[in-house]
Amino acid sequence: MTVNLKEFQHRRALLLRQMGAGIAIIPTAAEAIRNRDSHYPYRFDSYFYYLTGFAEPESVLILIGGDVTKNEPPKSILFCRDKDIEREIWDGFRYGPEAAQTQFGFDEAYTIQQLDVLMPELIGNQAQLFYSLGADQHWDARVTGWLNIVKNKARMGISAPQSILDVRQLIDTQRLIKTPFEIDLMRRSANIAASAHNRAMRFVADNLAKATLMEYAVEAEFLHEFYRHGAQAPAYTSIVAGGANACTLHYNANNAELKKGDLLLIDAGCELDGYASDITRTFPVSGKFSAPQRDLYELVLNAQLAAIEAVNPGNHWNTPHEVALNVLVQGLIDFKLCKGSLEEVLESGSYRQFYMHRTGHWLGLDVHDAGEYKDNKGDWAILEAGHTLTVEPGCYVRPAENVPEHFWNIGIRIEDDVLVTASGNEVLTKNAIKTVADIEAHMAHGAPEMRLAS
Ligand code: GLY
Ligand code: MN
Ligand code: MN
Repeated sequence: MTVNLKEFQHRRALLLRQMGAGIAIIPTAAEAIRNRDSHYPYRFDSYFYYLTGFAEPESVLILIGGDVTKNEPPKSILFCRDKDIEREIWDGFRYGPEAAQTQFGFDEAYTIQQLDVLMPELIGNQAQLFYSLGADQHWDARVTGWLNIVKNKARMGISAPQSILDVRQLIDTQRLIKTPFEIDLMRRSANIAASAHNRAMRFVADNLAKATLMEYAVEAEFLHEFYRHGAQAPAYTSIVAGGANACTLHYNANNAELKKGDLLLIDAGCELDGYASDITRTFPVSGKFSAPQRDLYELVLNAQLAAIEAVNPGNHWNTPHEVALNVLVQGLIDFKLCKGSLEEVLESGSYRQFYMHRTGHWLGLDVHDAGEYKDNKGDWAILEAGHTLTVEPGCYVRPAENVPEHFWNIGIRIEDDVLVTASGNEVLTKNAIKTVADIEAHMAHGAPEMRLAS
């Protein structure tokens, strides 16, 4: 993990400034048991990690707003696992409070065993509590217990917080605009995922003639490429969907045999130091698009390119979706998949038979990242420099009476990760091959450009 002390201290300082008076409680995620004494790979809570850079389980961040009247500055406190040589022999290194405090820049640090003892004291006389009530029943019960202890001290002149505010809302606003440090990580995450998609195309081309080729064998190429470049995990369960499977939006069985005449849709991205990439590419298993496959592919690609053009500061969140939808619907009419004028099809929504999802989402620590899409008046969010989002139109044609047979079972999605810049946008995933000509050339000969940008 990359520790950047100043970056994380700055994030905590910003949140403390927004909080004013009060105390914030931000626990990390619990470890999850897979079966008996085996655990799922551990993933920290994104809010906790955003404010700490600390990746160990059993940790809690406490932020206490300063009190100018008492000349008390704000402070950040970490509770974490104690050093434990015996446990470290089994499970590996842990910082312990002393090293965590200096290396991660907290004002104070204590062992997690001290949490129940110290929290009622820390909560007492704080005007507001910032906490994500309802996110986790276990933590809700624990925090309620501390509040009850504080309430029982009323006769001693100690007061409990008057209000409980959702700390996530404040952090979400901060998380929405990525810092240069985050953008650098997201570029690197995007480059690794792009390289994996390019690798998968070559893998299919190289292995098709030799053996039965299964979706999971292609998925393995992604895992190989992710891990060898230092990504810690896939950012979500990869979708490797051949032929008709691509028309199931969340298909992830990934256990069917690939057929030569089919398209293969792959939605896969990695997580690097917490940051997700999210790429979808669709390509012909044989290395050559058939005419109907190419028609629909170029339609989706044109919709995607037009939508990316619309990712500009000042445009609202929904503009890229509207732009993509207009291109797609006109194409569906031209190919006789929808009937009526552009306005009629948009109005009736009959296009939803073929395009039933939206064109993107915020991207960051979470693949579907934190942040509102509308403001509190109900208007779409306005795109700003530092926003990162996906642009991912698609077209999914299931067999149906109203559909020409040559389009049946074609499922296509093309997804890139885009950063809004001061002057327009930067496609973070631009190294993933996507034009018809580039895909066919890459599958025939191998692309000249398969290196990772440094
Ligand atoms: N891979 C998840 C998504 O595209 O939204
Ligand atoms: Mn996505
Ligand atoms: Mn995706």
